Amino acid sequence: MANRLTPLVAGNWKMNGLRADLGEIAAIRDAVAAGRAARAEILVCPPATLLAEAAQLCAGTPVAIGGQDCHPEAYGAHTGDISAEMLKDAGASYVIVGHSERRIDHGESDARVAAKAAAALRAGLKVILCVGETEAERAAGHAEARVAAQLEKSLPKERWAGRLAIAYEPVWAIGTGVTAMPRDVVAMHGFLRQRLAALLREGETVRLLYGGSVKPGNAAELLRSPDINGALVGGASLKAAEFLAIAAAIGGQ
Ligand code: PGA
Repeated sequence: MANRLTPLVAGNWKMNGLRADLGEIAAIRDAVAAGRAARAEILVCPPATLLAEAAQLCAGTPVAIGGQDCHPEAYGAHTGDISAEMLKDAGASYVIVGHSERRIDHGESDARVAAKAAAALRAGLKVILCVGETEAERAAGHAEARVAAQLEKSLPKERWAGRLAIAYEPVWAIGTGVTAMPRDVVAMHGFLRQRLAALLREGETVRLLYGGSVKPGNAAELLRSPDINGALVGGASLKAAEFLAIAAAIGGQ
């Protein structure tokens, strides 16, 4: 079952990108429309300031647009925050929750991540829920236990019916150029697949993405395992050519 899932190649622009960079999204859109990544689903998550315009650029095309975070509540006195409903209204169909940069920079707990994921599902968005261990946790031999605990506590209770993906992103591999060894990624994804099957009735339909210094040169090897159903790409998603090379390596014909 797992290896029949359509791979998802998601770009996370983080706090990068001005309006002048929207041309990169248009270039991604045109290449994807021309069949460059035919077997994969393509998603770009720009900063919130570009989301509505990016969604307009990609409307009616196979390229989906997503947010990078959402607040658990639909509206209210939360200065600076954005709700899942607002993301949907701006044209997003996805949102990333629980990215390690949010967990670390903003002190987000697993419970808060679960509430955000639930809010996103309530608003009709698809969710990419991130988990991953730190270097110290891996060195201490606690990687699986840490990731299993994050997964269990961050999973929303709501029904997701095909709207949930999990991204395994070892913190030490994000933005560092250090890619996890394919065998470690494969082992962790196999472990996550088992945990999901134990936790969820629909666990087999959940796509498991890998993230952390994914580049055109390592994407195909990392994605060879049937338990790895796509990639969450940070730095290499900012330029259309690089992102498309990854998309082609994963979803090309
Ligand atoms: P990176 O980021 O590809 O720049 O390592 C991945 C991520 O944080 O999603």
